[in-house]
Amino acid sequence: MTDHAQYLIQQEPFYQPLHQEVELYQAAWDERLPVMIKGPTGCGKSRFVEYMAWKLGRPLITVACNEDMTASDLVGRYLLDADGTRWLDGPLTTAARIGAICYLDEIVEARQDTTVVIHPLTDHRRTLPLDKKGEQVAAHADFQLVISYNPGYQSLMKDLKQSTKQRFAALHFDYADPDHEADIIARETGTPRDQAVRLVKIAATARNLKGHGLDEGISTRLLVYAARLINRDIAPRLACRMALVDPITDDAEIRDTLYHAIDAVFGADGA
Ligand SMILES: Nc1ncnc2c1ncn2[C@@H]1O[C@H](COP(=O)(O)OP(=O)(O)OP(=O)(O)O)[C@@H](O)[C@H]1O
Ligand SMILES: [Mg+2]
Repeated sequence: MTDHAQYLIQQEPFYQPLHQEVELYQAAWDERLPVMIKGPTGCGKSRFVEYMAWKLGRPLITVACNEDMTASDLVGRYLLDADGTRWLDGPLTTAARIGAICYLDEIVEARQDTTVVIHPLTDHRRTLPLDKKGEQVAAHADFQLVISYNPGYQSLMKDLKQSTKQRFAALHFDYADPDHEADIIARETGTPRDQAVRLVKIAATARNLKGHGLDEGISTRLLVYAARLINRDIAPRLACRMALVDPITDDAEIRDTLYHAIDAVFGADGA
């Protein structure tokens, strides 16, 4: 039971619902359907999963996926110690045993031979075979698998197989509409709302450049950074350059366009 408690989220995370995602997730949870959350970086996917785990009172185990990850990193492995070898459950196995929500972040980063280990857990079997240990773990009734991915980045080489995709119900996320996004920034950072509104305006310019020189617009996460720098008495113009523009582009022309957008919103005197 200690395992269980250790993964519980103690405090309500701030999450601003934008559409019907809370109800939709709740219904998927009630049916223990695996859920896929798609959307650009920094738009609230992880925050939403934390919020839902808190709301449902379920432990949350998050795994950041990467291309070097192996199936053993998810399911577990034998470790050698002074007393010989000992099995150590991986995060997926722990989640299946204790009935946690297991959140595999950026799942497409993982190789397909890693990804397939989730297959038996995400269909009627709800089991996880630990081949090396010779054990079949039957998932706890409250186990649920959630994956996230950013549809923008995929090359053909890096996509989920249909047989993986078609094991999930999907929620599509995007940056909040301007009003809600300003609310989110004000609430997250304590910055005055009119300041938050200005930041959101700058983001709008960058988001229009997506596909025209920018791979991705300015995320809500970066708007939160800018507000936090401004709260530290950094001039808004400098804070915006540092948090909103310089991280996302190396292209001098795009940078100038965005610097101009900042000047237009805050005034070239750096107000
Ligand atoms: N609806 C929302 N309610 C509350 N905060 C939000 C919301 N959307 C975005 N945020 C803010 O944006 C930040 C980034 O969100 P989050 O970390 O959930 O992004 P993400 O979609 O998981 O991104 P990545 O794909 O890069 O992991 C949060 O820390 C939070 O400050
Ligand atoms: Mg995330």
